[in-house]
Amino acid sequence: MTLRLPSNKGLVSGLVALASVLLTPTAAQNAAPSTGGVVVNGTSFALNGDHVSYRFHVDPKTGDLINDHFGGLVTETVPMLAPQIQGWVEGIGRVKREFPDMGRGDFRVPAVRVKQTAGYTVSDFRYRSHDVVQGKPALPGLPSTFGRDEGDVTTLVVHMYDNYSSVAADLTYSIFPKLDAIVRSVNITNEGKGNITIEKLASFSVDLPYGDFDMIELKGDWAREGMKVRRKVDYGTQGFGSTTGYSSHLHNPFLGLVAPDTTESRGEAWGFSLIYTGSFAVDVERGSQGFTRAMLGLNPYHLSWNLGPGESLTSPECVATYSENGIGGVSRLFHRLFRNHLMKSKFAVAPRPVLLNSWEGLFFDYNESRIYNLAQESAELGVKLFVLDDGWFGNEYPRVIDNAGLGDWQANKDRFPNGLAPSWTKSPLSRRPTHPRSCSLVSDWALHAGDYPRTLTRSELVLNVALPEVQDFIIASLSDILGNTSVTYVKWDNNRAIHEMPSDSVAHAYMLGLYRVFDTLMTRFPDVLFEGCASGGGRFDAGILQYFPQVWTSDDTDALMRIYTQFGTSLVYPPSSMGAHVSVVPNQQTGRTIPFSFRSHVALMGGSFGFELDPAELSDADRAQIPGIIKLAEEINPIIVKGDLWRLNLPEDSNWPAALYLSEDGNKGVLFYFQVRSTVDQPTPYLRLQGLDPAARYTVNGTDTYSGATLMRMGLQYRFKGEYDSKVVLIEKA
Ligand code: DGJ
Repeated sequence: MTLRLPSNKGLVSGLVALASVLLTPTAAQNAAPSTGGVVVNGTSFALNGDHVSYRFHVDPKTGDLINDHFGGLVTETVPMLAPQIQGWVEGIGRVKREFPDMGRGDFRVPAVRVKQTAGYTVSDFRYRSHDVVQGKPALPGLPSTFGRDEGDVTTLVVHMYDNYSSVAADLTYSIFPKLDAIVRSVNITNEGKGNITIEKLASFSVDLPYGDFDMIELKGDWAREGMKVRRKVDYGTQGFGSTTGYSSHLHNPFLGLVAPDTTESRGEAWGFSLIYTGSFAVDVERGSQGFTRAMLGLNPYHLSWNLGPGESLTSPECVATYSENGIGGVSRLFHRLFRNHLMKSKFAVAPRPVLLNSWEGLFFDYNESRIYNLAQESAELGVKLFVLDDGWFGNEYPRVIDNAGLGDWQANKDRFPNGLAPSWTKSPLSRRPTHPRSCSLVSDWALHAGDYPRTLTRSELVLNVALPEVQDFIIASLSDILGNTSVTYVKWDNNRAIHEMPSDSVAHAYMLGLYRVFDTLMTRFPDVLFEGCASGGGRFDAGILQYFPQVWTSDDTDALMRIYTQFGTSLVYPPSSMGAHVSVVPNQQTGRTIPFSFRSHVALMGGSFGFELDPAELSDADRAQIPGIIKLAEEINPIIVKGDLWRLNLPEDSNWPAALYLSEDGNKGVLFYFQVRSTVDQPTPYLRLQGLDPAARYTVNGTDTYSGATLMRMGLQYRFKGEYDSKVVLIEKA
């Protein structure tokens, strides 16, 4: 929750059968007209981007959907030989499938598991028909990517049907041709007369060709989110996911698959991002035939979704990108897609105000005058937005400590006798926020499973946001505050995982309820800048970005750890979406002492830059740096929030991590360059830039001018002094 500053400055996821049968169309048949990147030729389909092709067809014999190619752009399909069937695995288990169902001889991980009224879990989805749709329909109740202009995106819907169970599956594929991004979701409809239960549903499932792959994921825990892990994909299943009810600190709903020799800047890379904030599952399996199956979707441990006759379940959508320019290439595609076609907030590509957050400076120890003084001092230093963190609410159970008050979202009268809109926030209080009762007392509103103990984390329970009355209560409470104060920024925090639930379906129903709350509030208050948070990056996913353009990246503000977390998080999420703050030293989480300038430079790499400290605790020399850092932040923030990111040196590989941000038009850039350990008697390496125009000339820090070719092929050289030294270098096309 934030208050406007007291100045005029504005504030603010069969046994033996050998055959050689043509299963795909001939090259000549491929010459079909394209609709916005979608080419349909009979029952062969291609989604073509500027540099990517995703091709599949209907097996004429079986009606199964068979993948032909997902990789670099091709304009035709080389006919596929029928698999050699020897042994126990039938043909269906030896091909690359688009929608692997269960019980018919494909022994790899299925994308769907439907339990029928009779108890069968066999399913037999065959092609029924297809449609091509201009643009892209939104998903009911779920966050989804969207087009802005004609030609941004085209959609192909393939209708599959199981004749035996009368269950339909619609696979919706959309292609954003300029961004080499393919998006898929699945809708299951019960067209039968009995009830069925969906026990597994993957949003995206693809079988990549025979060959070796490495997989990349982001793992972590509280205060060490976004740690990049790369490992070989081996035979059998390997995967990860979340059963926390949220995307979680532990694993992120992102999967990278790369060729073994792919690097940050070279080689084939595939990226998958699930647009979902709840429990998810990522399965990667290399089968007996050497294909690698990758799938992302709802976590089956948290899914048991009943569908009565005529009812449907829609999966979240999942984005897949492909680049021949390494892992960095995939990241830049995600960033552009998310900034322009996922984030709905008007602040998505707007420069963000430099802020000061009260948490690490004051924790719960404050009242109105202490907040006023901190806000006043922040304003004098040039800070534009004051964020009042935890501790402002609750009267019956005041939240002056972390074991009371949650859900009682009324300003605490002792701390704020004048409410959340005292005169110094420049907004008259017209109506006091009210709500009927303290949530902490409403036991049926807290998630629980019968008489099982309600296990606490941080002395907290979780409100059951699957219940419409809880959704309405949150919407009303927040609307009261946002409608009656000058609050222009909301940090939406969530500090524990979901434990006991009344049923498995509640996990997904909770998420649908939460999305309804987010959507209603951001639509009602479009001028409020919302920041997501869940004990740091516990809910940093593509789903949340639809509503909140930024997320607090980690509770670990130690600048060294932050380089790892921010570089890791940037594998999929745009820098614009990362909140990053400068805090005091020794750091509260790690005890490490790092100079103020290095701490500031690391935080400046995040789209929402700020301070999280009481300036009174800084040395005079450090405090004196603040106005200059704010000036720099304001100069470079437009490039950070809208630019492309090039990770030049990775912290896991180099003592000199470096990142270059370039504006979308390529005219301006900002280079961040760090020395971690002090070295003695070592050479000073050149740092080679990337992403520049070789023929253009660039001025470096307003002085020397070099060609893009020189900067990319030879590079720049800087000398560092001691450990934790850093440089910020401005680059501009001459
Ligand atoms: C966890 C968040 O990540 C912190 O930034 C802070 O808001 C605390 N919660 C407050 O309780």
